[in-house]
Amino acid sequence: MEVIIRPNAADAADLTARIIAAKMRANPRLTLGLATGRTMESVYARLAQMHHADGLDFSQCRTFNLDEYAGLPGGDPHSYRHCMNQRLFSKVNIDLRNTHLPDGAAADLEAECENYERRIVAAGGIDLQLLGIGLAGHLGFNEPLSAFRSRTRVKALAPATLAQNAPLFADPEAMPRRGITMGIGTILDCRQCLLLATGEAKAAIVAQAVEGPMTGMISATALQLHPRCAVVLDEAAAGELKATDYYRWIFENEPEWEPFRTRPPAH
Ligand code: GLP
Repeated sequence: MEVIIRPNAADAADLTARIIAAKMRANPRLTLGLATGRTMESVYARLAQMHHADGLDFSQCRTFNLDEYAGLPGGDPHSYRHCMNQRLFSKVNIDLRNTHLPDGAAADLEAECENYERRIVAAGGIDLQLLGIGLAGHLGFNEPLSAFRSRTRVKALAPATLAQNAPLFADPEAMPRRGITMGIGTILDCRQCLLLATGEAKAAIVAQAVEGPMTGMISATALQLHPRCAVVLDEAAAGELKATDYYRWIFENEPEWEPFRTRPPAH
């Protein structure tokens, strides 16, 4: 794992967008894993800006989102499909047929989950998975006690997640109580993971995810198992980490991520 600490949230989002853009330029047929949540909004705004200003090309890129609310059709303004269309897909030259989210309105949700896994495999797997982190340490909707080998499935949402996301609904009571989410196993299969967390409210859970013991109670701790995972933070979200001097030294002197690497990786 590589921890990268930026002075503020805008810088952290900008760096995240630049890492994604560098991967897209190196491989125009990149399969990108995407995430929703407020933290990602500035990343998508920056990617849209790079598309307009620097011609960042999404035409051959494929995307798979982490999760969707069970029961919400893509046309619902609270669905993650709607959110992705609004925040990113409508602002860049991506072919909507290449953008994938679980269908929350599918008649058979279990079959939809299996089908989602098959679609990821058929696309050749996910090259780079963008991740946020919930206050309870979840990735996607992998709530506490998610198995580290879990695959895409329907998951009941924890009270902390309901409390965190209900304010985004016009009627908070209308927020679905279940979500469809890639499993931890699905996420660990991605070739690279890139987690972005900003703000003081995330500091405690980020410290547990990065430095704490691995536990099914905090699904983000599973990222410690991933051989190619970067965690991008602002100073506020890094506030409760213990080994920040070490992380800063590595990033400044021996960065391992391609966009910043100055020499071939050591073995
Ligand atoms: C939701 C999403 C997660 C996201 C989390 C954090 O629960 N399902 O994928 O990481 O929110 O959201 P925010 O960035 O708004 O804190």
